[in-house]
Amino acid sequence: MPREELFITTKVWISNAGYEKAKASIQESLKKLRTDYIDLLLIHQPFGDYYGSYRAMEEACKASKVRAIGVSNFYPDRYLDIHHFSEIKPAVNQVETHVFWQQKTAKEYMKKYNTQIMSWGPFAEGKNNYFQNPVMKEIGEKYGKTAAQVALRFLLQSDVVLIPKSTHKERMEENFNVFDFMLSGEDMKKLEMLDGGESLFFSHYDPKTVEWFMGLV
Ligand SMILES: NC(=O)c1ccc[n+]([C@@H]2O[C@H](COP(=O)([O-])OP(=O)(O)OC[C@H]3O[C@@H](n4cnc5c(N)ncnc54)[C@H](OP(=O)(O)O)[C@@H]3O)[C@@H](O)[C@H]2O)c1
Repeated sequence: MPREELFITTKVWISNAGYEKAKASIQESLKKLRTDYIDLLLIHQPFGDYYGSYRAMEEACKASKVRAIGVSNFYPDRYLDIHHFSEIKPAVNQVETHVFWQQKTAKEYMKKYNTQIMSWGPFAEGKNNYFQNPVMKEIGEKYGKTAAQVALRFLLQSDVVLIPKSTHKERMEENFNVFDFMLSGEDMKKLEMLDGGESLFFSHYDPKTVEWFMGLV
């Protein structure tokens, strides 16, 4: 497969935070991926010396080793800060986003400062009995689609970039098959009502979560 037909994203993990370690980590990723360039490189978590990491990433971008750089799991406070104190602005912020946590406030700020929101966990990894949700199932029946397809279509129509995961070929096909229908305004509103406004995993504002991440540095 020609390299240009692939879009390769990777991240700098917390244990590689800091200018020197991130620089080495980028080289290691290029080597492991057997490629001359990475399409999108993100900081995985906003902990440790991530400003140092970002400087190494800006440098790699200027050297054409990376085509675009961004962040992941940066809540609005940290996202705004790194946006203001960076030379190359984050192209993407990959955050937990699904019907049960729609990231309405975070999205507003990303839009204002021109960063694309990307969803991790578009199915909340199956939490909350996701694929059996009666609202998504009922809407899906109208269009001949599954709850999973409704969930993805909702995010697409909300200008969210998605990376759903499946280890099953037939589900991958199902997840790709969302470009031939359009949810009505009324159905979009019903799905907006499912927003609980908080994480189904953990909050990056919770000191216990931060302590846990610190243990990984
Ligand atoms: N930046 C971060 O901190 C972060 C954190 C977590 C994940 N991610 C990334 O986000 C991407 C999404 O993965 P995720 O782990 O967050 O999970 P996800 O996409 O929300 O959900 C994956 C789960 O949904 C199931 N599934 C997928 N399609 C389905 C379908 N059509 N019908 C029924 N079940 C279906 C999968 O099962 P099967 O595999 O059995 O089909 C799997 O259990 C991955 O690339 C991951 O690496 C990033």
